[in-house]
Amino acid sequence: MRVVLLGLPGAGKGTQGERISKKYGIPHISTGNMIRSIIDSGSELGELVKQYTTAGKLIPDEYVIEMVQQRVAEDDCQKGWILDGFPRTVQQAISLDKSLSDKSIEIDYALEIRISEEEALRRISQRRECSECGMVYNLMHKETAVEGVCDKCGGKLYQRTDDNIETASARLKVYMEQTHPVVHYYAQAGKLISINGERDINEVFAEVDALTAKLLSPGHQGEVL
Ligand code: AP5
Repeated sequence: MRVVLLGLPGAGKGTQGERISKKYGIPHISTGNMIRSIIDSGSELGELVKQYTTAGKLIPDEYVIEMVQQRVAEDDCQKGWILDGFPRTVQQAISLDKSLSDKSIEIDYALEIRISEEEALRRISQRRECSECGMVYNLMHKETAVEGVCDKCGGKLYQRTDDNIETASARLKVYMEQTHPVVHYYAQAGKLISINGERDINEVFAEVDALTAKLLSPGHQGEVL
């Protein structure tokens, strides 16, 4: 199964991507997480890349395309993957299609999780992550037992450096300008499914799961619903 997740920053791509990954046993590949690991490594490349993320801008296509191509060539991706945060430009989408068609494969569907910009800013400003295990929380609806401490592993919670209102607003603008055209790209290819992301996390997942199960069912012809 090969799925691409689209949606505004804060739409729930990471949240739903993790759940699909657990249920269907395929890797959840988040380019945002990969980029944050590079930044955390303290390398020269990390320093360079950080200038883009802290400004809410996209990393140049050629770098991200190469990074994803290497990742999807790894053994654990042979049965499929869920791409979260890629493609984010039409150029990235074209390069993904090209590398898949060279292997006579294609994505099963692109899932757009739709939320409003107001909801995106609310969620982003209240998001916290565990510095040890990466567990994602949201102060709007999930308080931890001890403030600022991860319930799962006891690690310290932190706020992403791009999760302040100023940078988040820039990310939303970049999404509309550079990533929203990718939604149209997949719509034209007959691969797009859009769902309402402004519902309870479990409710959103129930719909994603039902769609995925239907698309993967033996008699299914490959077209999206
Ligand atoms: P990235 O990390 O991909 O950020 P993003 O796309 O802005 O997405 P987010 O991680 O903010 O949100 P999400 O949709 O995953 O939401 P989540 O599930 O966490 O990218 C960061 C940066 O890296 C980019 O700005 C860019 O610089 C660079 N980059 C990455 N990929 C790139 C690429 N391909 N090309 C170039 N540059 C690239 O949920 C958000 C919060 O809401 C959480 O707290 C969660 O608990 C909560 N939540 C989730 N679902 C619900 C719900 N249904 N109801 C209530 N709360 C919910």
